[in-house]
Amino acid sequence: MTGREICRRFKSAGIENYRFEAEILAEELSGRSYSDETDYAGIEPAVKKREEGYPLQYIIGKWWFWDCEFIVNENCLIPRADTEILVDTTIKLLPKGAYFADLCTGSGCIAISVLRTRKDTKADAYELYKDTLKIASENAELNNVSDRISFFCGNVLDRCVPNRKVYDAIVSNPPYIRSDVLPTLDKTVGFEPKAALDGGADGLMFYRAILDNFTGNLKEDGFFAFEIGYDQAEQLKYLSEHRNMRCEIKKDLCGNDRVAVVRFEQKFV
Ligand SMILES: C[S@@+](CC[C@H](N)C(=O)[O-])C[C@H]1O[C@@H](n2cnc3c(N)ncnc32)[C@H](O)[C@@H]1O
Repeated sequence: MTGREICRRFKSAGIENYRFEAEILAEELSGRSYSDETDYAGIEPAVKKREEGYPLQYIIGKWWFWDCEFIVNENCLIPRADTEILVDTTIKLLPKGAYFADLCTGSGCIAISVLRTRKDTKADAYELYKDTLKIASENAELNNVSDRISFFCGNVLDRCVPNRKVYDAIVSNPPYIRSDVLPTLDKTVGFEPKAALDGGADGLMFYRAILDNFTGNLKEDGFFAFEIGYDQAEQLKYLSEHRNMRCEIKKDLCGNDRVAVVRFEQKFV
C-alpha cells in the first residue's frame, strides 16, 4: 500500500490529522521515510486497526511527550500534550534538590519528564496496577532517570504513602472524567484503560482523596499540583478552601483551566 493510499484511507475514516498519522505509521512500521509513492508492504493490518479507531500510539508502541519518548500499550493512558502544562508548572515551582511524588503515574510521563529537566530532583511514583507500573519503570530506564525514581504499587484512594515520607511536592494527573461522560467520549479513547479516566460520579473523587490522605506527606511550604478538567477550577478551589488550603489555577495554551496548584493557607504567596 502506498503512502498516498494510507492517507486516503485515513481521511475516509474521518481521522482528523490523517496525513500526520499516515506519515508516522508508515515511518515507524517500515523504518523508511515517508513519501506518497513509496509502497509500504505489509502495512494493511495496521491501517485497518487504525481505521477501526485503535490508537496510533498503541499500534506503534510509543509516543513522544515533553522531550522524551515513552513506551505505551493498552495498560497505560497515552500521554497527552495538555499534561505538559503540569510538567512545566512543576519544573518551575520545585525547590532546589526537591523530592516529589507522582500519584497515578501511568506511563510515568510526568515524573520522568520532570526528572529529565530537573537533574537535581528525585521522585517516588505510585500506581494501582502492576502492569502499568512495569511500563513506567521501563520508561524510566529508557529515559535514563531510573537512578532517581522509585516505583510503588498503591491505591491513592487509600493512604498508600507511609507517614515517614515527606515531599516538597505531590503532583498528579488522576482520573477526572465524570463516570456519566465516559460513554460519550471519542471511540479512540474507548481503547484506553477505563480506570485511567473514571473520576467517579462528579469527577472529583481522586482530588478529594489526595487532599484528604496526603497533606501529612507534604512539607509545610510544599505544594500539590494537579491536572484538572477545563471546567473543574471552581470545584478545586472549593475543595481546597474547605481544607484550609488555597488554590491557584494555570491555563493551557488554548486558554482553558488546566492545572491547580494547592498550598497550605499560611504559606501561599
Ligand atoms: C489519567 S491517568 C494518568 C497517567 C499519567 N500520569 C499521565 O499523565 O499520562 C490516571 C492513572 O491513575 C491510575 N489509577 C487509577 N485508579 C488508581 C488508584 N486508585 N490508585 C492509584 N492509581 C490509580 C490509572 O491506572 C492511570 O494510570
